[in-house]
Amino acid sequence: MLRAWDINFQPEFTAGRAVYLQIGELIAGEIQRGRLLPGTALPGTRELAKQLGVNRKTAVLAYEELLAQGWLESQNTRGTFVSSRLPESTPTAFAPAAGSQVEAPGFRWQDPFEPELLPVVPPGALVFNDGTPDARLAPVAALASAYRRVMQGRGRRNQLGYDSPLGSLPLREALSRMLNQDRGLNTTPAGICLTRGTQMALYLTARLLIQPGDVVAVENPGYPPAWQTFRLLGAELVPVPVDDEGLCVDELEALCARRTVRALYLTPHHQFPTTVTLKAARRVQLLALAARYGVAVVEDDYDHEFHYHYQPMLPLASADPHGVVIYIGSLSKLIAPALRVGYVTGPAAFVTALGRLRALVDRQGDTVLEQAMADLIDEGEIKRHTRKAHAAYHVRRDALADCLRRLPGNLVDFELPAGGMALWVRFRADVNVEEVAEELARRKVVITPGSRYYLAGPAANAVRMGFAALTPQELAHGVEQLGAVLHRYRS
Ligand SMILES: Cc1ncc(COP(=O)(O)O)c(C=O)c1O
Repeated sequence: MLRAWDINFQPEFTAGRAVYLQIGELIAGEIQRGRLLPGTALPGTRELAKQLGVNRKTAVLAYEELLAQGWLESQNTRGTFVSSRLPESTPTAFAPAAGSQVEAPGFRWQDPFEPELLPVVPPGALVFNDGTPDARLAPVAALASAYRRVMQGRGRRNQLGYDSPLGSLPLREALSRMLNQDRGLNTTPAGICLTRGTQMALYLTARLLIQPGDVVAVENPGYPPAWQTFRLLGAELVPVPVDDEGLCVDELEALCARRTVRALYLTPHHQFPTTVTLKAARRVQLLALAARYGVAVVEDDYDHEFHYHYQPMLPLASADPHGVVIYIGSLSKLIAPALRVGYVTGPAAFVTALGRLRALVDRQGDTVLEQAMADLIDEGEIKRHTRKAHAAYHVRRDALADCLRRLPGNLVDFELPAGGMALWVRFRADVNVEEVAEELARRKVVITPGSRYYLAGPAANAVRMGFAALTPQELAHGVEQLGAVLHRYRS
């Protein structure tokens, strides 16, 4: 009989990883290195367990794993052996290896993107972002258990296979109910396409709408990631100004009279970045105008839930009998940006085509996450979280406003926004916001000058200061640093 292999060393197992997998990797490694040759007998599970100081069940699991992967074979009553036909572990080179990763493509190609200018965020810095939620408040325990239930098939739903490109039906049903009840829309689940956040919704929408050379009207200032998407697809962007009542619809009307406008992209609820809510009269005028000229109105309602003063105005999509509005929403602002769930609704035929396009890009979304989200909505968890986050952000908005008002010297000015997750803070004309941002970064506080939100014309001397992701203490610290940097402008 062949002598069984002896383990003549004591391995150290890493905490947090299944021990049977670590034993499996150890034995597979010995085989790969040629220290265990095909046909070598392995100790029985009882003996292996004793040698490694683990329980027998762990040794059994390790062998089962290695047998399943083809490293070992079992010969009935004779025992367990290193397989005579090992799994292929090193692919055969057919030519000399290429060496390091090639930098420049060897094919004809044009990079459509400008070099990316990412803001420098010093480690440990306090960041006034442009209005993202506080992921520390996210209902992670509830989400994790819903996710686990779906993965393990213990919930009502267990679908790990291919699904509709429009997204998981339970979530479309839950969102349809929510949009109809809370936002006055008139959707059906078949008329909603789930996406991985607003950004993908914008890309799919733009891809279906835009032909190279088409004119797309956008708010100025506005949301650059949306502009970049339209531009990539060949659109010509035309800026339309924003004042204290939101988009200047008269200006849009003048543009439509001059040129064929394919689409308008706007953020009417809390305008990005100025936070202004588009007034009712302008909404009526805009919808009539879009219907008259056949303009697609892409309504980005990115932070609908967070409105603090009065009943929020319903979206444009709630009053659109002509089918001109394409309505985009997201759970990024409601829960956390990393949970990529967004949605598009609009004219049914358009949504059907979105689903077909989506299938070509991504086949379908994260079905497990979508089903877990549907469970959280059905269980009332999302409503509970919304109330909690709403209350926290309301306090934070007021805390930031109070801190800024206490800055001496009339150096900053802002309108308290009725909702949203950021303030649009204007600085006195002589304050150089770029320099202030640089000096603040040295003090480990990050702000982003508002000039980047302008497509054309003179930029306001302003900064969009997100408050939702920072506690009142963090906000106070950030503004204290800002006050110190602004000191020299006081005279
Ligand atoms: C205007 C606007 N739209 C949409 C989003 C959300 O995008 P997403 O859902 O892709 O995270 C943001 C987030 O910053 C935003 O500012």
